[in-house]
Amino acid sequence: MKTESNTVLITGGASGIGLALAEKFLQAGNTVIVCGRREGKLAEAKARLPRLHTRVCDVADPKEREALRAWAIREFPALNVVVNNAGIQQRIALREPPAWEKLREELAINLDAPIHLAALFIPHLLTQKDPAIVNVTSGLAFSPLANTPVYSATKAALRSFTLSLRHQLTGTPISVVEIIPPAVDTDLGGVGLHTFGAPLGVFMDSVWEQLKSGSQETTYGFSAESSRAGREQLDAIFKRMNPVQA
Ligand SMILES: NC(=O)c1ccc[n+]([C@@H]2O[C@H](COP(=O)([O-])OP(=O)(O)OC[C@H]3O[C@@H](n4cnc5c(N)ncnc54)[C@H](OP(=O)(O)O)[C@@H]3O)[C@@H](O)[C@H]2O)c1
Repeated sequence: MKTESNTVLITGGASGIGLALAEKFLQAGNTVIVCGRREGKLAEAKARLPRLHTRVCDVADPKEREALRAWAIREFPALNVVVNNAGIQQRIALREPPAWEKLREELAINLDAPIHLAALFIPHLLTQKDPAIVNVTSGLAFSPLANTPVYSATKAALRSFTLSLRHQLTGTPISVVEIIPPAVDTDLGGVGLHTFGAPLGVFMDSVWEQLKSGSQETTYGFSAESSRAGREQLDAIFKRMNPVQA
């Protein structure tokens, strides 16, 4: 994908990976819009990056996705890149399953939203110059972390959808890019719960270089390993990540 002269919409772009990507796009002279649920977080992002455009939107709600598309195309007719980054991660004990609503929320945000937003924006993107859809999946798409079972399943499904999307859009102007992060130190799952993993700045420097060089998939550390692993390596990775509890 092209990394300059775009108009880019990033879901969940007020923090973490989305905000770091927004900053890279802004530094390269792109117009950037971010959305998220928390107005205060969007205001904080705007204070840090004044050229950022912000919009409150809950991508779990199909009506809000439709409203986001209508607003974004009206306000930014040159919009040509959609980044499906918004995500949540829940630790779920399946022996004492939570209410369906809690499980469903993770599916709605991590999987329904990127599929629906791709479907909503494709007709518009087909009319634009250098369009792209960027989906943020995870190294866990290749081997699940068992204590985040729904999260891991949504990322495997989103990777699968991304491959089909790219295949079907071959021959159209739309590029389909997958960012496959390893564990990165962000607020994923809640403040203070994900303070391990790659430092965000170092990770994003690598992602940006890979995007600039035209990679369709960006990987880093663990996700470089898991995305290239064969079945035996994946079994070993699963065992390493999910030690059997006594
Ligand atoms: N950090 C990692 O280790 C890691 C690894 C692999 C993949 N990823 C993926 O990277 C993406 C970004 O995560 P992150 O690590 O940067 O965590 P983060 O800082 O928590 O960012 C997630 C963003 O998504 C937004 N969001 C969540 N639910 C939303 C909804 N219903 N509607 C709109 N926005 C919503 C959040 O804002 P609001 O709460 O204000 O809505 C937040 O800004 C996610 O898809 C995540 O799965 C992260």
